Amino acid sequence: MNKAKHIAIIMDGNGRWAELQGKKRVKGHEEGAKVVKAITTYCSHSKEIEYLTLYAFSTENWKRPRLEVEFLMKLLDNYLKKELQTYLELNVRFEPVGDIRAFSKSLQKTIRMIEEKTAHCDGLVQYLALNYGAQDEIIRAVNKLKNIEGNITTEMLSNQLDCKHAVDLLIRTGGDHRLSNFLLWQSAYAELFFTETLWPDFTPKDLEKIIKKFTKVERRFGGLK
Ligand code: IPE
Ligand code: IPE
Ligand code: MG
Repeated sequence: MNKAKHIAIIMDGNGRWAELQGKKRVKGHEEGAKVVKAITTYCSHSKEIEYLTLYAFSTENWKRPRLEVEFLMKLLDNYLKKELQTYLELNVRFEPVGDIRAFSKSLQKTIRMIEEKTAHCDGLVQYLALNYGAQDEIIRAVNKLKNIEGNITTEMLSNQLDCKHAVDLLIRTGGDHRLSNFLLWQSAYAELFFTETLWPDFTPKDLEKIIKKFTKVERRFGGLK
């Protein structure tokens, strides 16, 4: 049976969830943050899951209206400060992936603070993808290697990425079937699952059902059974 050691989720559908209820899009982000906590808690209790990577803000999301971007930044700052205690209680290590230098100094400080305060936690690792784009991640990795003599190997490049672990199970909520620049390198052999469920409606039970299906898939990695 397959083991879902690394689960990655494209948390999509917050805006539509809110609009369907006649609410402002940002309400959907607020609700989505609660689901981040529920899913992280569920994963932290699993013996099998070691890494949970959540797509929270892409390098393309800056194109959104300024007010929505500002709201997301504030929500992130508040979430991290409020949930520090939860990270510690669940023994979850928090690590950002993505280029956080684009964020305000104070948000960067919060991110670094949570990273440091949870550095000793040795349970689940929660990678939060913040100003993350897979192409940007790969380019930054290549640039770190550009002065090296000789050929670059797969391993050398992999070691320079923000997230160094291959994805086993990649899930996208919200009904679209695309990767939107998420973990392109790490998902080379990921099993892809798409669900119509909008992120604020996604529950640990839904995740459990997907994991169950995932365990039965025949993964061949290019070989034969
Ligand atoms: C995902 O939900 C959250 C972020 C991208 C920050 P969306 O905000 O993309 O919600 P939809 O896809 O518009 O419904
Ligand atoms: C992907 O969702 C990014 C996050 C979930 C953070 P988007 O809503 O930004 O993706 P597109 O624009 O539909 O591809
Ligand atoms: Mg979306």
